[in-house]
Amino acid sequence: MKLNDGYTIPVPGFGTFKTPDGEICVNAVREAIAVGYTHIDTAAVYGNERSVGEGIRQSGKARGDLFVTSKLWNTERGYDSTLKACEKTLTDLGMDYLDLYLIHWPANTMQFGDRADGINTDTWRAMERLVDEKVVRSIGLSNFYPNHMAAVLANANIVPAVDQIEFHPGLLQEETLAACNANGILVEAWSPLGRGNLLSDPLICSVASRLGKSPSQVILRWVIQRGVLPLVKSVHADRIRENFMISDFVLDQEDMDAIAGLPEARFGSHPDTAAF
Ligand SMILES: NC(=O)c1ccc[n+]([C@@H]2O[C@H](COP(=O)([O-])OP(=O)(O)OC[C@H]3O[C@@H](n4cnc5c(N)ncnc54)[C@H](OP(=O)(O)O)[C@@H]3O)[C@@H](O)[C@H]2O)c1
Repeated sequence: MKLNDGYTIPVPGFGTFKTPDGEICVNAVREAIAVGYTHIDTAAVYGNERSVGEGIRQSGKARGDLFVTSKLWNTERGYDSTLKACEKTLTDLGMDYLDLYLIHWPANTMQFGDRADGINTDTWRAMERLVDEKVVRSIGLSNFYPNHMAAVLANANIVPAVDQIEFHPGLLQEETLAACNANGILVEAWSPLGRGNLLSDPLICSVASRLGKSPSQVILRWVIQRGVLPLVKSVHADRIRENFMISDFVLDQEDMDAIAGLPEARFGSHPDTAAF
């Protein structure tokens, strides 16, 4: 997919949330690259950036052939601490640049009252400086809904390239998608499989068996056909491969609509009430 700053971002991305630091993470990342993923998503708070970097080095793939994302954790918001946090992330990954750096969660008014917008815009100014300094190629948001995004957009010199949000059947995020579309911001889906919970859904399973695909392949295809970039995580070689093999079929409109009609479900925190 194409970003609004001209860079290209590979689909799907490989997720590493809850992937244990150490050998499991190193092996998962190396395996993912071996089967063809070139886009790896991590975050400082996952505690596994060193292992992600090691997995990438062990893959033997050139840094320039990969797309690496990390995220600024909530305790590091603000201008100076954002600059320092990015430096630590690069050290931990063992890299001299990131393809994409995201503000992991917006400061919200529940926690910060009327200071929230100011915190988010100060943080964004530091993200822009990281681009100017060429240590980060693209910058974006994560878990920003339209109410969190407005102040950032009103003050930005660089429009965010992406917004990474919880998105899957049962959580269509129509307002955020519309706001992102209007500003040329690509939406990335976290927990596209609903952390695994959607894989046993009877409708998903029946579409999958009719098409000779797996439930995860059907869901990832559905996400892509909604114009959203899925990030999918596994630590198992067979699933890592299965989740990557999604470009040889298309869901028809009837299946797309049926899957879009699944009952509402949310598996992670809501950005307005997240207290971490
Ligand atoms: N920005 C944010 O706030 C945020 C929040 C959450 C996630 N993320 C990012 O998005 C990525 C994906 O989200 P996620 O990890 O929460 O959830 P997910 O990718 O929807 O689901 C991962 C779960 O599904 C299982 N699984 C994966 N493929 C499978 C398959 N083919 N068959 C059966 N089970 C399968 C995994 O188990 P095994 O590992 O045991 O195979 C794991 O328990 C994260 O890893 C992270 O990079 C970002």
